[in-house]
Amino acid sequence: MIFETHAHYDDRQFDSDRDDLIRELLDGKICNIVNVGASIAGIKDSILLAEKYQQVYAAAGVHPSEIDELDEIAFAWLKEQLQRQKVVAVGEIGLDYYWEKDPQAQERQRYWFARQMDLARECALPVIIHSRDAAEDTMQVMKRIHAEEIPGVVHCYSYSPEMAKEFVKMGYYIGVGGVVTFKNAKKLKATVEEIPLERILLETDAPYMAPEPYRGKRNDSGKLAFVAEKIAMLKGISVEEVEEITRKNAETLFL
Ligand code: NI
Repeated sequence: MIFETHAHYDDRQFDSDRDDLIRELLDGKICNIVNVGASIAGIKDSILLAEKYQQVYAAAGVHPSEIDELDEIAFAWLKEQLQRQKVVAVGEIGLDYYWEKDPQAQERQRYWFARQMDLARECALPVIIHSRDAAEDTMQVMKRIHAEEIPGVVHCYSYSPEMAKEFVKMGYYIGVGGVVTFKNAKKLKATVEEIPLERILLETDAPYMAPEPYRGKRNDSGKLAFVAEKIAMLKGISVEEVEEITRKNAETLFL
């Protein structure tokens, strides 16, 4: 069985078949799904999905590209959502300098990233970190707020193997998805080879990041089989072992 640690089934790309698809996945090889909220609306929808399906959990956090939604009132509301039983993580939160080049806006991202990290510590929840083109600042914020005291995952990991080892040293998991099946994903393949399987989580980021041979199409958790297969190949172990260990990792972090 596969534990899907990062999907966005609240996305409108699933409007036509959301419930059929989720039921089919949970009747099949997917044992659990963490549906990750990225905006205020996404958090609400994630919680609704988690309340509807026993095996679905929600993460509640505001993505760096959506932080204009945050003020003290929204932040207090977020804190209330984190008390709900099916909310298992704060996420996704972090820094995204790929989409945001303005230094002042980047400063605001760092501010709300740190605030949401502190909130996770306060609520004793793990974090799901989104970090794109912002490796050094992500590490700097994490060191400043003592992120090693907060469990979590660096999702859709896109940096070097050396950086991955730094995150692992802080106690973090590395989220691996469809990108690992891409021909040009040399850094991610090297990362998978160099860090222990005990630190890897399987994730789709559905509807995005579909693995080969579905690259560019709508992604869903069923396609994690291709990701598990690629990791097994890189590590020279069986697919069953990859599925079992990563499932245990996810249960340890989230449940
Ligand atoms: Ni995501």
